[in-house]
Amino acid sequence: MENKLIRYKMALSQIKAVTEGEEDLLANMANVSAIIKETFDFHWVGFYLVKGNELVLGPFQGPVACTRIKFGKGVCGCSWERKETIIVDDVDKFSGHIACSPLSKSEIVVPIVVNGEVIAVLDIDSEKYGDFDGEDRNFLEEISGIIVKKEKTYKKDKHSKNM
Ligand code: SME
Repeated sequence: MENKLIRYKMALSQIKAVTEGEEDLLANMANVSAIIKETFDFHWVGFYLVKGNELVLGPFQGPVACTRIKFGKGVCGCSWERKETIIVDDVDKFSGHIACSPLSKSEIVVPIVVNGEVIAVLDIDSEKYGDFDGEDRNFLEEISGIIVKKEKTYKKDKHSKNM
């Protein structure tokens, strides 16, 4: 994508501004999804949160998505299991890919890790094949790092009955 670097820099400064002084994890995830979606117009941008042995749908922008993904399943569950970012150039070639929309062609999933533990994943789907590369990984991992800084909220939430 042309100007990807410039767009990521703009998105990053917006994300830093809106998360500054806000510790609520879900509120920050909601704004981060909106900023990434608005900046790049990807097909789907959102978060899944680790709850027990599965991922549960969190804040997102885009069409309706599946709500629960088991550990190790799909691209999201694999990223959680491996604790690493996964880039898929063609989702049909990824064994076990969970197809929420026929329009998704490529995908990147970035784990959000707090104290060595994955608490959520950031999942982005594109309508183009091979839409993600190392540049996306670097910026999205930086964005996931910004969310991690808000870990106080996570610790508080973890002990609430809603998690
Ligand atoms: N593609 C994901 C499922 C989530 S949707 O894309 C929103 C996967 O295989 O993990």
